[in-house]
Amino acid sequence: MKRAVIVGTGRYVPPRVVTNADLTRWMDTSDEWIRQRTGIEQRYWVEEGVRTGASDLGLAASQRAMAKAGWQAEDIDLIIFATLSPDLFFPGSGCLLQHKLGLSATPALDIRQQCTGFIYGLATADAYIRSGMARRILLVGAEVHSSGLDISTAGRDVSVIFGDGAAAVCVEAVDSDAPLGVLGSVLHANGALAESLMTEAPASREWPRLTEAMLRERRHFPTMDGKSIFKEAVRRLPEVTREVLEATGLALEDIDLFIPHQANFRINQFYQQSMKLPEKKVFHNIQRYGNTTAASIPLALDEAVEMGLVGQGSTVMFLGLGSGLTWAAAVHRF
Ligand code: UT7
Repeated sequence: MKRAVIVGTGRYVPPRVVTNADLTRWMDTSDEWIRQRTGIEQRYWVEEGVRTGASDLGLAASQRAMAKAGWQAEDIDLIIFATLSPDLFFPGSGCLLQHKLGLSATPALDIRQQCTGFIYGLATADAYIRSGMARRILLVGAEVHSSGLDISTAGRDVSVIFGDGAAAVCVEAVDSDAPLGVLGSVLHANGALAESLMTEAPASREWPRLTEAMLRERRHFPTMDGKSIFKEAVRRLPEVTREVLEATGLALEDIDLFIPHQANFRINQFYQQSMKLPEKKVFHNIQRYGNTTAASIPLALDEAVEMGLVGQGSTVMFLGLGSGLTWAAAVHRF
């Protein structure tokens, strides 16, 4: 039986650290407010004015993951690129990354699932591998949020949260009857709540797609109904955990480490407490990176691997909720 197994992980963040104190230079906020409400202490942002897209961060992360997996670019059968901040309106960042990797015909697929982009991507990679359509898939989550944030006081509820960064995993087909690799995944979306976290412009439904009026009205910046999303997250994350456990026939105790999307420290604490999990079983790194959206779960995974929290035989659950709204979970045995 073909199993989709993660055989390499890598992450990359730009060198510029932006602390909570730095943000107070541009907006009315405080280190205390940000730490208390979100747990975030700092994030990484690309250098202002230095042209850097999601595919640039994705390239550096991919190279690190590929080095760990022992892959050459030519080994890749498919690139799956998850981002909400693509380099261009179109074509997708996956195509740009493919070229930067020196490839010229390898297929590249972009997915727009925001905070659950990595889980949707992993489920897609699993389906490609199990069906025999690919043997080696490079799955990347990468975001450059900072060039699209309203860093004035008007945008402070959103802009203090987001960080730039990328992470990649190499997913390989392994022929094995043992339960290994992706053991199961559950994906959900509810478009009725699409506007609770969105960037409205530029948009194909507008004519033209971007006008001076839209810029004046700040419609090209993300907006978020943080309270509703918080409520959805604390309801949906336990729910999707139970669903994926049922789908895989596993019990909560069989999971060695839970790696939730890093949207808010308080959401993940609430999750840990409501599931009655020991603190050390739920991984957090939002303090240092902020919310890196599609990159957040693989970035946390790469750190957990580096810290020795995930190794051969570890069973890990990935879970998250975000814009779409989408929510999802997957279980992987290393
Ligand atoms: O990954 C995508 C999924 N997104 C999420 O999961 C986000 C979920 N939601 C959240 O994390 C929280 O809702 C936030 C951290 C975004 C906001 O926390 P909150 O406790 O819901 O605060 P709030 O938006 O209700 O704002 C409370 C107060 C307001 O002032 P008043 O009206 O009480 O005077 C805001 O204007 O805090 C003010 N405020 C800020 N103050 C200082 C909002 N943002 C800031 C800020 N600094 N950055």
